[in-house]
Amino acid sequence: MTSAKRRSVSSKSTTPSIVETLVTDAYEQFRTCDQGTIATYIPELGKASPAHFGVCVMSVDGDYFEAGDCNVEFTIQSISKPFVYAMALTQHGRDKVYQRIGVEPSGDAFNSIVLDEKTNRPFNAMVNAGAIAVASLIQGASLAERSEAQLAVFSAAAGRRLRIDDSVCRSETETGHRNRAIAWLMRNFDMIEGNVDEILALYFQQCSIVVTARDLAAMGATLANMGINPITGENVFEMGCIQDVLSVMLTCGMYNYSGEWAFRVGVPAKSGVSGGILGVVNRQLGIGTYSAKLDSRGNSVRGVKACTYLSEELGLHAFNFMNHGSHFLKNMMERDEMVETS
Ligand code: DON
Repeated sequence: MTSAKRRSVSSKSTTPSIVETLVTDAYEQFRTCDQGTIATYIPELGKASPAHFGVCVMSVDGDYFEAGDCNVEFTIQSISKPFVYAMALTQHGRDKVYQRIGVEPSGDAFNSIVLDEKTNRPFNAMVNAGAIAVASLIQGASLAERSEAQLAVFSAAAGRRLRIDDSVCRSETETGHRNRAIAWLMRNFDMIEGNVDEILALYFQQCSIVVTARDLAAMGATLANMGINPITGENVFEMGCIQDVLSVMLTCGMYNYSGEWAFRVGVPAKSGVSGGILGVVNRQLGIGTYSAKLDSRGNSVRGVKACTYLSEELGLHAFNFMNHGSHFLKNMMERDEMVETS
């Protein structure tokens, strides 16, 4: 029996908290699940061990509980998409980004070669077409500068310096013909500008940034904490873009499972083909899971089960009766007696 590790919680009690117990339970219950297959369309990803499984949750105060292999490294892949979207929104504002990338769930697979028929825009920033268009908006004098800007932001969100896995990046560069087709189609419709090969290189590099399940929990906690990393205190993202990023994650983050995910789990999330899932419980928690075997839609089998379990047990769903929301509105509805009586 493995128990969750914990860091600096306020209580001195040695009895595990409910969250700690549930993180351990999520790991223990699903560690023996052997369903799914490891992605191999990027050949280097096929080297992942199917045995590794990690579950980590981090609060907006920086306290975390984890169980299993939360220090095992893997490439972030599509979980990079919400963070680069946040960068583009910060650099250009919502209106300009919206002109180039929509906010509708596509219902299609993540790598589908399809654009909105009316606007020629990619459907959203969580599918490959949208993410490539988002990458094209990232500012910098050169590819190296733009890539370093992404790495710096991801590192700040994780609270430690991250790196790019060059072997995975090379592997995707050699095999990413479908993404090339998507990018050139968008170039044809003037949905992306500039050097298409460089835009693709930037996209492949962002997907090859190396993280752990604990990093994902910290990055999720940074989004949950309105852009401020709860451990370092660094302000990583503008508060104004968080609502946009989380909305698109909730409706589009889990590919063509997004509707059912919103229904059953109700937490803005993003998965990646290397087996990570990142979840964000608004103003409360970041969740990071890792297990390489994927279901038919490309989501980690154990990760989906662990997140579903935690959401059900802790009432994390955005519309769950236990999830009370803020008191701002209640306070604003209270009458100011001084004004009333004057
Ligand atoms: O574009 C690709 O195919 C990968 N670099 C990222 C794919 C990914 O993680 C999307 N989701 N499963």
